[in-house]
Amino acid sequence: MVTTLESPPNGTQSSPFIGRPPVCVAYRTPMGRMLHGLSDELLRSDCLERYRGRVDLVFTSPPFPLNRKKKYGNLTGEEYMEWLSSYGPLLKSVLKPTGSIVMELGNAWEQGSPVMSTLPVRSLLKFQTDNGLHLCQEFVWHNPAKLPSPAQWVNVERIRLKDSFTKLWWMSPTPKPKADNRRVLKEYSTAMKQLLATQTYNAGRRPSEHKIGEDSFLSDNGGAIPGSVLTFANTQANDPYQEYCRNTGIEPHPARMPSALAEFFIRLLTEPGDLVLDPFAGSNTTGAASEAQGRYWLSIEAESKYIEGSRGRFPAIIEQE
Ligand SMILES: C[S@@+](CC[C@H](N)C(=O)[O-])C[C@H]1O[C@@H](n2cnc3c(N)ncnc32)[C@H](O)[C@@H]1O
Repeated sequence: MVTTLESPPNGTQSSPFIGRPPVCVAYRTPMGRMLHGLSDELLRSDCLERYRGRVDLVFTSPPFPLNRKKKYGNLTGEEYMEWLSSYGPLLKSVLKPTGSIVMELGNAWEQGSPVMSTLPVRSLLKFQTDNGLHLCQEFVWHNPAKLPSPAQWVNVERIRLKDSFTKLWWMSPTPKPKADNRRVLKEYSTAMKQLLATQTYNAGRRPSEHKIGEDSFLSDNGGAIPGSVLTFANTQANDPYQEYCRNTGIEPHPARMPSALAEFFIRLLTEPGDLVLDPFAGSNTTGAASEAQGRYWLSIEAESKYIEGSRGRFPAIIEQE
């Protein structure tokens, strides 16, 4: 059965989109809506009233905390921390009690100095503590395709290594939000496959004194449980999004994340028919990954040019309500 707004996946909650649409819908698809505007204003306003307490996962990558004025939406230092923290009550107002907030923040460097800024860490910490959230787990997204940067210290003076990861903080109002690692199992290694096939393992104490039970270790659980360092290369030169941007002359979003990263958290923390929100949607990687996984989505982006490009991620855009 095809999942649409009117026919959610079997046995799951009904569509969050039935009824009058909120204002400022830029486009919609069978599973979601892209809203144009400032997410703090929209989340504060009545037009998102219907989503209060209905969101299972907020998955987002806020504008980066640069220590200098940059493009739209990038505050500096303390202001940035205050601004990010002020999103807590807004996001909690739409989140289910068992829901999760996953926030990705890139590293930042002090301007003109080979020194990392602690602003991203302090911003995450302030967001989490100010808003009474539990840090369920910290993840690292390792991007092996990351170009060497900061260039002055890595390429020119050769005194730093390339900065190739970002942090993701999984937070929730409850210490036990909805989650199931069986939805993100990865293929067993060749060695593990061999062990499972031969059922021979020299059980006993590890150097750590931890005793591995042969029974549970040698049972096939359908795949290996991933670690908290996630490696996904951000190299999608010829994906439909890039192609759409090229064909329509739209500038691609400069800070996109790989779809695989969004899909990982969407699978871990939601089930088909759940609702995912991205209040800083950019090219709407989150919406497209949600739709691909049979989850409803709601995305908000301030810049219309990014919204226009994001249309290229969806084969089925519905222009009219
Ligand atoms: C780091 S990017 C997100 C990229 C996105 N994850 C992707 O894969 O394309 C952050 C986005 O937030 C948008 N933004 C900044 N402030 C905003 C606000 N108050 N409301 C909505 N969007 C905002 C920026 O225009 C930018 O596109």
